[in-house]
Amino acid sequence: MEGETGQSGATILFSLKNQVGGLLQALRTFQEQHVDLVRIQSRWSTRRDSHVQISVDCHGDGPRLRELPRLLARHAHVLRVSHRHEEPPVPWFPKKISHLDLRSQVLMYGSELDADHPGFQDKVYRKRRNYFVDLAQSYKHGDPIPRVDYTAEEIATWARVFRELNALYPSHACKEFLRNLPLLVKHCNYKEDNIPQLEDVSRFLKERTGFSIRPVAGYLSPRDFLAGLAFRVFHCTQYVRHSSDPFYTPEPDTCHELLGHVPLLAEPGFAQFSQELGLASLGADDDAVRKLATCYFFTVEFGLCEQDGQLRAYGAGLLSSAGELKVNVDSLWRIILGRFDAIFVCLSQHALSGQAKLLPFDPRVTCEEECVITAFQNVYFVADAFDDAKTKMREFAKSIGRPFSLRYDAYTQSVEVLDDSGSIRTLVEDLRHHLDIVEDALGKLV
Ligand SMILES: [Fe+2]
Repeated sequence: MEGETGQSGATILFSLKNQVGGLLQALRTFQEQHVDLVRIQSRWSTRRDSHVQISVDCHGDGPRLRELPRLLARHAHVLRVSHRHEEPPVPWFPKKISHLDLRSQVLMYGSELDADHPGFQDKVYRKRRNYFVDLAQSYKHGDPIPRVDYTAEEIATWARVFRELNALYPSHACKEFLRNLPLLVKHCNYKEDNIPQLEDVSRFLKERTGFSIRPVAGYLSPRDFLAGLAFRVFHCTQYVRHSSDPFYTPEPDTCHELLGHVPLLAEPGFAQFSQELGLASLGADDDAVRKLATCYFFTVEFGLCEQDGQLRAYGAGLLSSAGELKVNVDSLWRIILGRFDAIFVCLSQHALSGQAKLLPFDPRVTCEEECVITAFQNVYFVADAFDDAKTKMREFAKSIGRPFSLRYDAYTQSVEVLDDSGSIRTLVEDLRHHLDIVEDALGKLV
């Protein structure tokens, strides 16, 4: 079946009117219609021995392809045309956790810094950044994350951030964050004069929620970043922002990851929410990934929630560029920043001041939010609770166009495509087993 628009394919069988130069004229018609030739075969006609039949598999824009036989008839006898509608190819996605090794290329801020980066002219800093790039790029799934011997300057920068933020947490952070932070102090050596090691944090998270950390050299594409979440893998930078301004970084750094993201990744409900966001992205088309990235932005990075009648932050970063900028989501993603610190200032001065528009988190609305970014955002989305956000995201994920369903297998840390009766039968048997456990447990309660 041929689609009305979009890319289509066809097989066209024709014989030549003029044997000399006829083929060239016929093929030129394909070229003029911008139709790509995929395969050409010739054979002797079964009806007339002296005639050659040409079979062409081709691919192109639907309307142009429909027009082609009429134009081709000027140079050839068109014998048969069979159209087929071609589904857009499903973008590659990792099927198991080790496949994340295949897509760890960063899009920006790897070994190169932009001219406006605070460390651009600092040769020592740039050399140090190259060290972190090497660490991240040589990392493979299953490796321990290399321990970093942080310099006194890096620890001093961390200390400034740590101290300032800890003074603000009690009055501004959500209760889940406040519940987990002391555990990180206890188990991962979170303290002012020590930058926690990602390996320790990863082990801690693994026990708490099954999340693990994967070092990354810089900014990943939304698709690759979200794919990590699907496997409960959080990509974390390991370098420290430039010391010239501890409260500014144009990119996520380890202060942002460790203080902004990690405490909530230790929360089961938030971990589940993050993974479902990631699972929804696997194999989704670019538009769907854009919507999911927008939801990520307004929740994991900029989310607010209401707790005990107060607005509290659970998002890990906040844009704080001066002036108004209009950016698309790709640009927006790049400025999902290491500015966890700024959110509190921003919240107190802006979001909590009543000047910002607050909307209830609804992925159908959030995903379409125009990315008009000012120094402070115009809109914040407020969730009732992570469970509520998770339920809404789950419903939203069903609306994302994808020609298959997926199931995550926690035992093998892989995703299974449910596209045949065998895989669905296995899932049903699993569910039956779980229902047996539920029934057994209920029976013992009565
Ligand atoms: Fe972030």
